[in-house]
Amino acid sequence: MPSAEIRRRFVEFFRARGHAVLPSASLIPENDPTVLFNTAGMQPLVPYLMGRPHPQGDRLASVQKCLRTTDIDEVGDKTHNTYFEMLGNWSLGSYFKEEAIKWSYELLTSKEEGFGLDPARLYVTIFRGDENSPFDEEAKRAWMSAGVPEHRIYPKGADANWWPAVKGKDTWTGPTGPCSEMFYDLTPEGLGDMTPEEYDAADESQKIVEIWNDVFMEFEKKDGQIVGKLATRNVDTGAGFERLCAVIQGKDNIFETDVFAKINAFIDEVRLPEVGLHGQRARRIVADHVRAAVMLVSDGALPGNADQGYVLRRLLRRAVRQADVLGCPAGSLAKIAEAAIDSYAAPIYPEVAATRARILEIIGGEEEKFRRALDRAVRELERHVASGGITGEVAFDLYQSYGLPIELTAELAHERGLPVDLEGYRTRLEAHEEASRAGAAAKFKGGLGDTSEMSVRYHTATHLMHQALRDVLGDHVQQKGSNITPERLRFDFAHPAKMTDEEKSRVEEIVNEKIAAALPVTRVVLPKPQAEATGALHLFGDKYGDDVSVYYIGSQIADAYSKEFCGGPHVANTSELGVFKIQKEEAVAQGVRRIKATLS
Ligand code: SER
Repeated sequence: MPSAEIRRRFVEFFRARGHAVLPSASLIPENDPTVLFNTAGMQPLVPYLMGRPHPQGDRLASVQKCLRTTDIDEVGDKTHNTYFEMLGNWSLGSYFKEEAIKWSYELLTSKEEGFGLDPARLYVTIFRGDENSPFDEEAKRAWMSAGVPEHRIYPKGADANWWPAVKGKDTWTGPTGPCSEMFYDLTPEGLGDMTPEEYDAADESQKIVEIWNDVFMEFEKKDGQIVGKLATRNVDTGAGFERLCAVIQGKDNIFETDVFAKINAFIDEVRLPEVGLHGQRARRIVADHVRAAVMLVSDGALPGNADQGYVLRRLLRRAVRQADVLGCPAGSLAKIAEAAIDSYAAPIYPEVAATRARILEIIGGEEEKFRRALDRAVRELERHVASGGITGEVAFDLYQSYGLPIELTAELAHERGLPVDLEGYRTRLEAHEEASRAGAAAKFKGGLGDTSEMSVRYHTATHLMHQALRDVLGDHVQQKGSNITPERLRFDFAHPAKMTDEEKSRVEEIVNEKIAAALPVTRVVLPKPQAEATGALHLFGDKYGDDVSVYYIGSQIADAYSKEFCGGPHVANTSELGVFKIQKEEAVAQGVRRIKATLS
């Protein structure tokens, strides 16, 4: 069954059972500043799983674009990707375990409506029970009535069957609960019935692989602690699309599915014919990373030194290195990207086809830039050859100034018979990361670490301008970032087009009118639901506490000109601001504009 048909069947199966099918959200979360990427299908739905009514109803399904970098070093094996798609269906207080499990089983095994997998190769796990929640008898009964024999249902502890399963300290804040996972036997001979010990060994050796996870969300966690039950009992399921394709298509790894066919074919055309086993890994890495880069750029990311841009740059640079291992000529990345674009073009992801030219330009440009940096880095490295070794400091400098990843420094040094002080490199890197974490924390506060008089003025001006932008351009304008210094304000916001001169003048006029009107600026602290009910602007997600601070500009909160969730500080009256002027309006990413403005 082709991958496009697998996507289609998934969506139609749930549509036929009353689910609204949602389009994939962007890889870059729009309203959640706490994560860089959507890493699961449920992530854009967290506010709804926590109780907010969803406009499309209480049964939802989607095919969501996801990106995870936690397993980046694993990419190249049989099952790991950075970019992947997740198939999911959700119940927001509608159905619960019985239907969720019945439908999972039907979709996996039905030949007509589903994927036609062999029930004799299917195994499931359920939650064994602990102090938080008892043995999942309900899930067990549901599996048995769906058709799974009792001895194929394996009870497991919270480390495997509680979502999210956390390694190390649990800091999860959000919906949570026991889960039930489905596994499929990939061996040619078929494993048949297994004792729990045999089952664990088969799992360990990847003879069986997980294909789907049904989570029964009944609880809420704060900082890793269960703090209560959710208002409704919800279902959240997730199936890794590429892995499911491998299983359905009878392949033993994701890279041999038709999802990668065009990309592989192109790589094989340009690479050197014989690169052996190491080449297989390199080919998988190039395929994975270029595909991820294509999807990131089509969602508006640009290569850079921080946040999403840094991840994009790292993916592309690793891809260049592995393309070299394969003997692909310089300039191949953009061509491989074309094959990835063709694999994802409309109708599935129209944004990919629509941004084709831009994707090719950015990926091609980044390859060129990296190759130039590499040349410089190699020359710099050669200068140290005479000294007999690469110190931690030099290795760090090669990374910092030339973008040379440590593994590459080690490789190049090795070719020249030189040792590298990896320990010293790590110590320096950690010190640097510590400093940038502190920087990030300050940034997260919106630059409010600086409470100089001028910065406070700019902060209030930012609130006025935010509302004025919404008045002039529309309510799609949302804050994407803010940075304030005593010299200027800088504000990033969602808007699809360059602002016209008239629009800019109109925003200036409105802000200056509000300054001239000498409006009072007031802070109130309200319980979160009441704060939301005032209509104050805020970001989705959970980073606000139970009581939130709201600043409003105007005489009363009900009809105030501007209202925002904000920690402050602000001026007491807009008359303190002076004259507002927009100095610059420019693009920072696709669909995101940046304004720099001053007060005088
Ligand atoms: N939240 C679960 C997962 O990510 C199911 O969607 O696996």
